[in-house]
Amino acid sequence: MGIEDILMYDESLFQNINAFDPDYMPPNYNFRDTQMEAMAMAIRPAMRGGQPSNAVVLGSPATGKTTAMRKVFELVEKNTEKVSCVYVNCQMHTTRFGIFSQIYKKIFGYAPPETGVPFARIYDQIMRELQKNSRALVVAFDDINYLFQSKNANKVVYDLLRAYEEYPGVKTSIFAILSDLEFKYAFDKNVNTVFIPQEITFPLYTYSEIEDILRDRVKAGFYPNVLSDEILEQIAMYTLENGDLRVGINLLRSCGNIAEADASREITQEHYEKAIDSLVSINIVETLKTLTESEKTVLRMIADYDGLYTAGELSKIFKQKTGGSYASCARALDKLEFVRLIDTKFTGKGAVGNSREIILRFNPDEYDF
Ligand SMILES: Nc1ncnc2c1ncn2[C@@H]1O[C@H](COP(=O)(O)OP(=O)(O)OP(=O)(O)O)[C@@H](O)[C@H]1O
Ligand SMILES: [Mg+2]
Repeated sequence: MGIEDILMYDESLFQNINAFDPDYMPPNYNFRDTQMEAMAMAIRPAMRGGQPSNAVVLGSPATGKTTAMRKVFELVEKNTEKVSCVYVNCQMHTTRFGIFSQIYKKIFGYAPPETGVPFARIYDQIMRELQKNSRALVVAFDDINYLFQSKNANKVVYDLLRAYEEYPGVKTSIFAILSDLEFKYAFDKNVNTVFIPQEITFPLYTYSEIEDILRDRVKAGFYPNVLSDEILEQIAMYTLENGDLRVGINLLRSCGNIAEADASREITQEHYEKAIDSLVSINIVETLKTLTESEKTVLRMIADYDGLYTAGELSKIFKQKTGGSYASCARALDKLEFVRLIDTKFTGKGAVGNSREIILRFNPDEYDF
């Protein structure tokens, strides 16, 4: 098809193209009942005038934490007037004022003026309103590690959890959501005494869970019979091996786009392979952008050489050409292997580190670096 045909072609394989969007709320949300029950249990006391609990929500990327939190908040608000639930995305809101503006907006229905009003006034208005209506406040801090980076975590959590001291009767709690499992959240002592959270963990999805979730998405997004079971299984397997659920959802969308551009009524094996290739090449382009100059130099030397270098040979030439040390060449190689641009294979000859053979994992002619 020509470009105009592609743009004007009005038959579609997509029943609902938004089913593959990042903010799509799947109506069927399985495999997370235990976690959502734990979230609900933490909030439940507040629906009866009691104190809600604090929680830390932990799990690798795309294990469904944000979606579960949003669903539970929706359910709480559908069933009670007694609790205000505020969801804060800490990548977007990192200042104390910014976060309390979000809370204000939820409670009053409109945002506070952006200038001219001191933080203390906004805080006071929020707390008085809660006090007046005997409403509890539950705030979810999604990706709370960003709040630690901006050094506001302690202040904001302190402001919230110790509000009852100045505003008796006010009941508050927080959910701290984290996907970086290495990240150790450490609050100051005066926060720790009021932040005693329960942990709610989101495990990785298994193969069969991934397949079920993707199958639901296919039903919501495509017309019937657009995608065969065999291709769905391949996509589920690729998702399991190469990262998170978002990879699978994106692959479904791009398979659909590729098939549509081909004026096909179904997604074929060929469309699937094209989609995988484009995904891999996007990843390579993104990874290449993250390399330092000396890592790029090492990569170029590998790409320009006709045969297979061993790590020892390479570091000698690296030293001759650039004056860089053996150690910095070895570090660059470790990084390149870590980001999967190269593989190294131990040949068994010579000194352990130096006899690794270096194999490029992509075609250097197709990329600029
Ligand atoms: N059980 C599920 N059923 C249907 N879709 C799901 C399920 N779990 C996750 N998803 C989908 O996977 C994607 C990622 O989910 P979500 O954003 O909730 O994960 P997350 O744990 O918050 O990830 P991150 O740590 O990266 O923020 C979303 O598109 C979501 O709709
Ligand atoms: Mg999330």
